Amino acid sequence: MADGNAGEVGAEALKGPKAAELSVILPSFNEAANIPILIGLLDEALAGIAWEAIVVDDNSPDGTTEVAREIARTDARVRVIRRIGRRGLSGACIEGILASSAPFVAVMDADLQHDETMLPKMLAALKADETDLVVASRKVDGGTIGEGLSSFRAWGSNLANGLAQKLLNVTLKDPMSGFFMIRRDKAEALAPKLSPQGFKILLDLVSSAGGTLKIKELPFTFRERQHGESKLDTLVTLDYFGLLLAKYFGNIVSVRFLMFGLVGASGLFVHLAALRVFLLSDMEFNLAQTAASFVAMTSNFFLNNQLTYRDRRLNGMRALVGLLTFYAVCSVGVLANVGVANLIYADPSYWWFAGTAGAIMGAVWNYAASSALTWRKS
Ligand code: GDD
Ligand code: MN
Repeated sequence: MADGNAGEVGAEALKGPKAAELSVILPSFNEAANIPILIGLLDEALAGIAWEAIVVDDNSPDGTTEVAREIARTDARVRVIRRIGRRGLSGACIEGILASSAPFVAVMDADLQHDETMLPKMLAALKADETDLVVASRKVDGGTIGEGLSSFRAWGSNLANGLAQKLLNVTLKDPMSGFFMIRRDKAEALAPKLSPQGFKILLDLVSSAGGTLKIKELPFTFRERQHGESKLDTLVTLDYFGLLLAKYFGNIVSVRFLMFGLVGASGLFVHLAALRVFLLSDMEFNLAQTAASFVAMTSNFFLNNQLTYRDRRLNGMRALVGLLTFYAVCSVGVLANVGVANLIYADPSYWWFAGTAGAIMGAVWNYAASSALTWRKS
């Protein structure tokens, strides 16, 4: 092998500094104050290990990218990916993982809430017993939820864990953890199956692997945030349930479509509530029904803008224009709905089938048209 042809270079002939054994992926959004501290802590914690850190920053307005680049200018172990026009924790992690080449990859929050002294233990566990994935868990004995999560978030987190276990057979004690280390070959193999939306990359990895990963969980204490604020509001929990459902249904439908459907279902309640109020105030039925439709469409628009399309969220004037196009899209959706339902309604004993088919047709239309018109990719 080694006495190769001209032009072929053996690995031993390669020059340059030794490549990293461990890549630490640091997704960041507005973490300018935390990055320099974190790199210092990594330097201490990972003494003796050939490591690199990749900051994946979504063009943070607080200048995180510049701060990280400043460090990278004097420390070759630090690299920066600046993503423009995109948001999302999972997507950032995937991109960071795929931009590195080390045989072991860790994903870790950039806000100092994750205990960096866990990293050497995680690496040792991966190397020692043929483990594929090590999760730093806030739940196993000795680990604690600490003061880092509000009680409401902690409750939501427990509920979400329970559901993940029931629906997906994911037996992790802390599937919501954002702190883990995985073998590169496993991560590369799973990458095409992962959803860049949302923030549940660990759950996504484990459920996509379908039981093929050898997993180990190590306890750690989730620290309280010192600088900056959490980007994961309570609403992202919905996003998580979207992922659970999408995985449960075997990825036939996209997370986004499921979210859109959930919002649409909430619109029905809004519609009925508004209709009731209008009727009580003596409005004539047709007018009340039309007005209630607008209330429901408006509510759907804002919920979709907050949740379903949080990565393409429209603000200010663009939100107003978006709302108007959404009205237009939904009006056509009603026609599609009624048209299909009518075609099928030929036999009245199947009224429920006609009604459901119409509603699905309307939802598919609304989804396709609004993602192309209202929330089109800029
Ligand atoms: N690039 C990028 N893009 N990074 C992001 C984004 C984004 O859209 N949103 C958040 N981040 C980064 C933050 O800067 C931080 O480094 C990390 O992702 C975690 O975000 P936080 O906003 O600090 O999340 P948290 O502390 O509230 O949530 C914690 O608990 C979750 C489970 O309940 C984290 O540990 C999560 O990783 C964990 O999934
Ligand atoms: Mn955090």
